[in-house]
Amino acid sequence: MSEDQKKKIEETVQYLNERKPNNPHIAIVLGSGLGGLTNAIDILEEIPYQEIPNFPVSTVKGHKGTMIFGKLNDIDVVVLSGRFHYYEGYSMDTVTYPQQVFAGLGIKTIILSNAAGGMNPTFAVGDIMIIRDHINFFGTNPLIGPNDDSLGERFPNMSEVYSHRLIHLAHQKANELNIHLQEGVYMGVSGPCFETPAEYRAYHILGADAVGMSTVPEAIIAHYRGMEIFALSVITDLGVIGKVMDASHEEVLTAATAAGPKMVKLICEMLPEM
Ligand code: HPA
Repeated sequence: MSEDQKKKIEETVQYLNERKPNNPHIAIVLGSGLGGLTNAIDILEEIPYQEIPNFPVSTVKGHKGTMIFGKLNDIDVVVLSGRFHYYEGYSMDTVTYPQQVFAGLGIKTIILSNAAGGMNPTFAVGDIMIIRDHINFFGTNPLIGPNDDSLGERFPNMSEVYSHRLIHLAHQKANELNIHLQEGVYMGVSGPCFETPAEYRAYHILGADAVGMSTVPEAIIAHYRGMEIFALSVITDLGVIGKVMDASHEEVLTAATAAGPKMVKLICEMLPEM
């Protein structure tokens, strides 16, 4: 990364270190329509992105644009309600700015959530899919450019981006809560178009179970910066051959909002053992 970018991140981290009311080691990023989780937080401080020096501002409906410090199931967390997407025109540096800031704040574990289209024929709308692995189909990578060896490796190993320990914990808690979980591979694409039937089919043949427009760049930076990652998709529409839905942003938000409470229950149960 450039020296200028590094200075900006340091400034943001310094501001947040002075303003934060608690010292969380876990960060949560909320996907489209999944903002309902904020209702379960004991909020200590909610900071609009505009107040945070150098922080980007989100433009998408269904994404609020605040950083919340608080407690969830009695565990200290910092939550991003509103993320930055590549399709909004942001650079990869901007899309992953929060993960660089989290690393600076000492975050050790990150939970990434998103809404995604399901391509696996066993999936149904409203399912939760634990992300076991991803395929980066953005056509770019947030680590392109000069590497700062003090932050991470030039050629990061990607054999376990999504923590096997946390995937195991998710299955264990889902069993106890009687929540039906899917597990699979997430394909990250730029968007903003939803997929054509041929694209859904191609992505499934390539090995992906769900497709969405976020998470992959964030996971790459979080992994690069040494965080343990847990990620999940809420399946909001289907790109299954013969059942391709004409997905719209409204439908995605409605389906995500409906499945939200299930995701919140699962995350709350996992937190004490993360
Ligand atoms: N494709 C891409 N992104 C998405 C989808 C989809 O079908 N659903 C929610 N986000």
